[in-house]
Amino acid sequence: MINLDKYSSIFIANWKLNGNSLFLKDYYEKLKVNSNNCTIICSPSIYLKSLKGDKENLFCGAQDVSSFKEGAYTGELSAAMLKDNNIDFCLVGHSERRQYFAETSKNVNVKSKNLIEENIIPVICIGETLEQKENKLTEEILFTQIKNSIPISANQQNALIAYEPVWAIGTGLTPTLDEINQVHELIKNFDKKYINFKVLYGGSVKSSNSKEITQLNYVDGCLIGGASLKVDEFNKIIS
Ligand code: PGA
Repeated sequence: MINLDKYSSIFIANWKLNGNSLFLKDYYEKLKVNSNNCTIICSPSIYLKSLKGDKENLFCGAQDVSSFKEGAYTGELSAAMLKDNNIDFCLVGHSERRQYFAETSKNVNVKSKNLIEENIIPVICIGETLEQKENKLTEEILFTQIKNSIPISANQQNALIAYEPVWAIGTGLTPTLDEINQVHELIKNFDKKYINFKVLYGGSVKSSNSKEITQLNYVDGCLIGGASLKVDEFNKIIS
């Protein structure tokens, strides 16, 4: 298991359904990994193996995993298959999966449990919608998502939490720095079990705001979508 404590921050690139072999080759050549930080690239699964090079402190992450371990489930990839391909991290419960693929917190819980059994670190995503925020339901929603999505076997060494307000993803909008810090503090204090969990922020992170977000007391890194597709921009974020 990777020792997350040795890094000052964790940065995850979520490429979503983007990229191809040429893009990947160029990206890898230009990527400048900072040794103080843990950098994880979540490319589409089919490219994960080609990203494995010799750069230290650079890891690969899948964007999803099957909740099944094996059997007649066409199109699925199991946690054991990811491990077999030296994948160390996996996003689970991203809001796009919850929204477009009807993924529930119960699914996220099973997937995370299976990943932990294979020594893969699940990055468990949670976040409220704009409507929930406007109705002052953020705390309740996050608490319910955490309670139901995080398996009993998870701890600060074998799992990560990513707080991504749904309304901030891909919109250019972000909560204020104070709001981000407060929500992260809240998440870590829901239960004493979570107090030392690393919690990453995601949602419209770019080079112009990443530094101040990462420096917040309760923030341990960032999950970056759109801005991670431009290697120069991503280099600035992780530098
Ligand atoms: P964004 O996406 O950085 O483009 O807002 C973040 C994410 O979906 O993880």
